[in-house]
Amino acid sequence: MTCCSHLFRKIRSSSATRFAGTDIDISELHNVKIYTYKELRIATTGFSLANKIGQGGFGSVYKGKLRDGCLVAIKVLSAESKQGVQEFLTEIKVISSIEHENLVKLYGCCVENNHRILVYGYLENNSLAQTLLGHSNIKFSWDVRHNICVGVARGLAFLHGEVQPHIIHRDIKASNVLLDTDLRPKISDFGLAKLISPNLTHISTRVAGTAGYVAPEYAIRNQVTRKSDIYSFGVLLLEIVSGRPNTNRRLPVKEQYLLTRAWDLYEKGELKTLVDSFLEEDFSVEEAVKFCKIGLLCTQDSPQLRPSMSTVLKMLIGEKDVNEDHIIKPGLIFEFVDANDLEDKRCKGEVKSTCTSLLANSRKQDDSSSSKTSFATMCFTAICDRTN
Ligand SMILES: Nc1ncnc2c1ncn2[C@@H]1O[C@H](COP(=O)(O)OP(=O)(O)OP(=O)(O)O)[C@@H](O)[C@H]1O
Ligand SMILES: [Mg+2]
Repeated sequence: MTCCSHLFRKIRSSSATRFAGTDIDISELHNVKIYTYKELRIATTGFSLANKIGQGGFGSVYKGKLRDGCLVAIKVLSAESKQGVQEFLTEIKVISSIEHENLVKLYGCCVENNHRILVYGYLENNSLAQTLLGHSNIKFSWDVRHNICVGVARGLAFLHGEVQPHIIHRDIKASNVLLDTDLRPKISDFGLAKLISPNLTHISTRVAGTAGYVAPEYAIRNQVTRKSDIYSFGVLLLEIVSGRPNTNRRLPVKEQYLLTRAWDLYEKGELKTLVDSFLEEDFSVEEAVKFCKIGLLCTQDSPQLRPSMSTVLKMLIGEKDVNEDHIIKPGLIFEFVDANDLEDKRCKGEVKSTCTSLLANSRKQDDSSSSKTSFATMCFTAICDRTN
């Protein structure tokens, strides 16, 4: 971070410049560096295809090299992105104010003319979606997986418990867990996160998550709490232990959905079978099975039954026992519709809270979770009191 410092200009607190079409005063954006479009263009060799490292709901992501040699990931917000200026600014405000070893560092942004670009620290080993669940030469030993699970849990526990007011990520998934040179995990993308004032324990403004990871109450009733993040974390945990995406339609029908599979195996007392066969015998069966059980605890239908992130962390690191009496069948959504259909139905009140099984944004999406991007839709805004 310091290596880049002379290249950018800090936003001055006296600045009253406002971003086009928003009420946000840039003086609110503390600790954010401003890059010129020109320096980012040079850093990415004209945003060349060769430097493009990804494409998500926001737009394209490029690898860039700043003048001092500092490597960065440059996320260019696409004009047609559903995640617009407001989300862009929300992400800047939120990320710039928090720092943790398991959260991706936002260096700054570019807001020249119509360009809206985020500049992050570059993570050498890409995302879990592209490596563990995709194709790569990285060997994910049990120790590495263990550390990734614990690191992500620490990052999320920090957002949920230590940041005030707490932050709900809203889009925890394999492509939002990036890995550094030592395969340490960092959670990315806080554009969907919302700051919640301490006296409000529930805020619901829109559904913006990813099929396969979205908690039932979030998908069906637009209810967002820390417990919906915990549901997504549970899915991710099972993916890391099993080395497979949450949905894989190339598998036999009974094995296509990871949560259903995990529950079936749990009932038979055969959770060990879920563990990635790549690990052969080189892992602690007891610990891997425990992680699967924690995944099941996190994905229960009722948000109240899911443990808090600090409890999850304690269970992962062995400071707290996993109480099996609390494990019941996971909450799943079995709506074979795409996100827009679901939103349409929700708005019309056609989606019933009783509908359970796996949300599959099926027709338009590939089986691999690495290809899935977020969906963000406007429906209604509501703030309600809740206990979680
Ligand atoms: N800081 C970073 N360092 C290295 N690679 C990154 C970084 N940020 C993003 N990427 C790469 O770019 C890809 C696209 O990221 P992006 O967040 O835009 O989309 P996504 O996570 O796949 O989907 P979504 O838009 O739903 O979050 C990531 O999967 C990752 O491979
Ligand atoms: Mg992302």
